[in-house]
Order: sequence, then structure tokens, then C-alpha cells
Amino acid sequence: MPLVTTTEMFAKAYAGGYAIGAFNVNNMEIIQGIVEAGKANNAPLILQVSAGARKYANPTYLKKLVEAAVEDSGLPIVLHLDHGDTFETCKSCIDSGFTSVMIDGSHHSFAENIATTKRVVEYAHDRGVVVEAELGRLAGVEDEVDVSSEDSAYTRPEEVQEFVAKTGVDSLAIAIGTSHGAFKFQSTPKLRFDILEEVGRLLPNFPIVLHGASSVPQDLVKMINEFGGAMPGAQGVPEELLRRAAAMSVCKINIDSDLRVAFTGNIRKYMSENPSHFDPRQYLSPARSAITDIVSHKLINVLGCAGKA
Ligand code: G3H
Ligand code: 13P
Ligand code: ZN
Repeated sequence: MPLVTTTEMFAKAYAGGYAIGAFNVNNMEIIQGIVEAGKANNAPLILQVSAGARKYANPTYLKKLVEAAVEDSGLPIVLHLDHGDTFETCKSCIDSGFTSVMIDGSHHSFAENIATTKRVVEYAHDRGVVVEAELGRLAGVEDEVDVSSEDSAYTRPEEVQEFVAKTGVDSLAIAIGTSHGAFKFQSTPKLRFDILEEVGRLLPNFPIVLHGASSVPQDLVKMINEFGGAMPGAQGVPEELLRRAAAMSVCKINIDSDLRVAFTGNIRKYMSENPSHFDPRQYLSPARSAITDIVSHKLINVLGCAGKA
């Protein structure tokens, strides 16, 4: 099976009340760790590449590694551009064989976001590629927000119908209180399910995307802290909130930080317990297995997409 788009995956996820995991990939071990979990659980996968990943690993290497994952696993796998910033970045990924791209115009005005997204959609659809866009702005972890500026970052449901109609976009990322990184909430985690519900009512049968959805498991944070790291106060999105979102119109849930914490925590532990070792295969093996463990947990217990390949 070649790389696939999200079209069929999202239709099934929407109807089945579950979500597909979109995991960020930066190197071979992370890709292998995720794909092992997909194989063990017969789950569809979205492997996504950010601008930072493209810069770090070279897009050609990542593309070939993801193609190897498809060949090795036989699973339905989407190769997705995460947070594409310009038409040119999206075009470059489409031209090189990505099956899905995100154009993130959320920092632009509504009109500009529509114009850029529409341009990407036209180029992508002519080539059989699907497009995700974003409306609303995810809070940065360090943002000092008062209530009114915090409110202005949430997606405005009254804008979504016009945005989707004018752009022809295939899925929409919305801001309901999640944020990127490992430090998401200073006090009680809270998501605006009222916004998600209203968007779902206004856009029936339309796939919604949730970014910033790592849960930051405390056992992994503890591991990092115990072996020389410093992540006090790290806090993610509780998994029961993600399960609730997946049962609604959310069809794609983006997870990166959890994989980073699992990977790094295990490398720190291994090196701390085996300070004389210097063969990268020795410390990368447990790190890769930790990715498989956490992704399996997400597929089975959070996303609900195990067995859906
Ligand atoms: O949304 C951001 C992802 O976690 C990717 O992060 O830009 O550091 O690769 P990155
Ligand atoms: P996390 O930082 O919560 O893992 O979010 C990742 C993400 O949204 C990638 O686009
Ligand atoms: Zn994101």
C-alpha cells in the first residue's frame, strides 16, 4: 500500500467516535518506535514533519524513512507537514510526495488566513493532497494571559463555516485551551468543550484537529528529573479530556512532547545507569522502545484507534 491521505481515515474516525494519532517524527528511532506500536495494535498512523524536523533531518531522509515504514508495516500511513508557514513550504512538501499538509495561517488576519489557505488547497487538491488549516491561536506556554486576551486566542465558532466554505480545506485545527510543549497549565487543566461542541454543530461531518495534546505523564517527568533533568511543574492535557474530544468531532490528535519526554527520559536513565557505555545503539534501543510503549498506550487508551487500520 502506498502512502495514503487522511480522507478515508477521518471519515471512519468521525463515524466511529475515535481519533487518529498524529505523531511528530525527527529521526529513524522515533519513526520505528511509532510504527512498531502501529503494527502491534493494527492502527492507522499520521507521521508528521515540522519545519524544525525538515531542518534537522533533511526532508529527503524523512520521506524515505516514512516510505520504509509503509513497506515494513503495510499500515495506512499519512505523511503530513506540521505547521506549514507559507504556500512555498506546503508546495515543496506536496511536490516531494507528502499526502497531507497543514497551512498554519492562524497568526494572520482572518482574510489573509483564508487567502493563503485557499491557495494551498487549490494547489494540493489538483495533486490529490489534503490540507489542514487552523483558526484561533494556541496559547504559548509562557504567555501571560488575562481573560480577555486569552479569550481572543480561542477559535470563534462564528467564523468556521465561512472559513471552510471559502477555502475548501479538508480539516480544521481549533484552539480550545491546549497549547504546545510540556508546560500547558499553571492551575487546573480546562478545555472549552462548549467551543468544540458549537463548531461540531456548525460543521457536521467535518474533521476537527487538536494540537498541543500531549498529556506529559508524570512518571516520565519524574524519570527525567531523577536522572539529572529539570522539568518541575510540567503538566499536560488529562487523557480523559482527550478521550472526550475524540468521541466528538476531533479526528486527529497531535502528540509530540510526550514522545520527547519518553525518549529523553530513557536516554538519561540509561546513561546514568551505564556511564561507561558509548555505543548509541545501546541507549537508543530503550528510548525507541519507550516510544513504542507510549504510542501503544495512546492508540489503545486515548485515541481509540487500535484495530482500525
Ligand atoms: O507543534 C510543534 C511540534 O511539537 C513540533 O515541534 O517545531 O520543535 O519540531 P518543532
Ligand atoms: P504537544 O507539544 O502537546 O505534543 O503538541 C504537538 C503538536 O501540536 C504538533 O503540531
Ligand atoms: Zn501543533
